[in-house]
Amino acid sequence: MIPFLKFSIQDLGSYSVPQEGFPVKLNQNESPFDIPSEIKQEIWHRFQKDEWSRYPTEGPEDLLDALSQYAGYPKEGILPGNGSNELIQTTMIGALNPGDGMLIIRPGFSVYPRLAKIFNVELFQIFLNQNLQFEEAEILNTLRDKSVQMILIDSPNNPTGALLKLSTIEKILTVFNGLFVLDEAYFEFSQTTAKKLIDTHQNLVILRTLSKGFSLAGLRLGYLLGRPKVVSELKKAKLPFSVNRFSQVAATVLFAHSKIILNNVAFIKKERERLFAEMAKISGIKPYPSEANFILFETTEKPVQHIFEQLKSQGILIRDVSYYPKLEKALRVTIGKPEENDRFLDALRKILQG
Ligand SMILES: Cc1ncc(COP(=O)(O)O)c(C=O)c1O
Repeated sequence: MIPFLKFSIQDLGSYSVPQEGFPVKLNQNESPFDIPSEIKQEIWHRFQKDEWSRYPTEGPEDLLDALSQYAGYPKEGILPGNGSNELIQTTMIGALNPGDGMLIIRPGFSVYPRLAKIFNVELFQIFLNQNLQFEEAEILNTLRDKSVQMILIDSPNNPTGALLKLSTIEKILTVFNGLFVLDEAYFEFSQTTAKKLIDTHQNLVILRTLSKGFSLAGLRLGYLLGRPKVVSELKKAKLPFSVNRFSQVAATVLFAHSKIILNNVAFIKKERERLFAEMAKISGIKPYPSEANFILFETTEKPVQHIFEQLKSQGILIRDVSYYPKLEKALRVTIGKPEENDRFLDALRKILQG
């Protein structure tokens, strides 16, 4: 132990995800489609004229205009951040004191419990039910019985792909006055949003990202939607200048080409349905329907580690989520390009037959 660093940090495992050396990389819910080179050229052309010696402006206006138009939300209520991860942290800084209560769903996005530990907050964990769906009654009971200052839920849920019903979100908001952070990282794939409820509930904020549907994971850009008054307060909890000039320019240009991006999303959704149908035919595999760009599946015959390692040895990297609560027999695969999905399917069939 290092005596001058917090125990809560040293007690955490490192957040490491293998990233290189796999021809078929389906482990981080990224888009398989890179930004087309003409658009990269356009971004580069604009960025060359930019003044790199200057700090980035907060906003800036053209990015806020583009986000506002895309999200259908007033720009005064939009806060860009360095990936939605930064904004998760920002909302926690803004709403929680050490010892406060935060409600999350397990299994869910793994960054939430990590940050809870770092911030020394009390975690109230609600587990998904047997069918890996949200348990509305349990959420509402916990809110009634416990002292909860913040709720942080991803919908679609990562790693299951399940959606939290809008009616459940509404019910939560009628009984809960703390900050409700709804993480819609996979919105492009689900096309379901609780954005309208911000009009009636000032304690709701929504997080989105350009890392998934928008193929921009490498540039780190997320955004928060909330009431303008809430956003201007939360902005104070965020590090200044955290979104660099390059990402600002890239995102602004990319929104001008959002049709290409949304075509990719539609393509990935079709591939998701194809992959699901093919996986459902494989004996020993139980895939779960997903509203995101990944599929969770359980292995009912062969050990989960065996399947994961066999795929890995063939250059196919997916995500082992078997250490998550309730998912002892589960793996998660990101939807890739058709040829990547085919390689995954072929390998999976052979492993299960072998
Ligand atoms: C639910 C959820 N929220 C947030 C993120 C992080 O996104 P970003 O790249 O914008 O930090 C992820 C990434 O996997 C995610 O699954």
